[in-house]
Amino acid sequence: MKKSKRPVILGALAAALVFVATVIVCYIVWFLPDIPLQEIKPGISVANIEHGKYLANHVMVCIDCHSARDWTKFSGPVVAGTDGKGGATRRPAPILPSR
Ligand code: HEC
Repeated sequence: MKKSKRPVILGALAAALVFVATVIVCYIVWFLPDIPLQEIKPGISVANIEHGKYLANHVMVCIDCHSARDWTKFSGPVVAGTDGKGGATRRPAPILPSR
């Protein structure tokens, strides 16, 4: 009679799960670094404003969605003067210009 290997596999999976959970709990209890919170007060300076512009325009590209876009042109460039004014909606942007 052929014995099913299913109980052995399930037992091994349960043991592995218990082992991983134990390792995670041990890490949290004994090894997780205790880093004190730092209070950050960003000041308004030209350098900070320029850094914010850099992040919004080039790193996070907030401006791409939060500006009016001219979808009649290739790649829908931002309409000059609408930077950050809004424009993104939950509606999908047209992929191709309609005309
Ligand atoms: C991929 C497009 C996209 C990018 C990139 C993006 N947003 Fe948005 N954002 C949206 C959409 C869509 C909404 C929701 C607009 C709506 O409610 O119809 C939204 C909503 C918001 C809101 C809430 C506005 C409100 O009136 O409730 C803020 C604040 C915001 N975004 C800031 C940012 C910032 C800051 C960044 C860059 C770090 C960013 N967004 C990048 C698409 C984007």
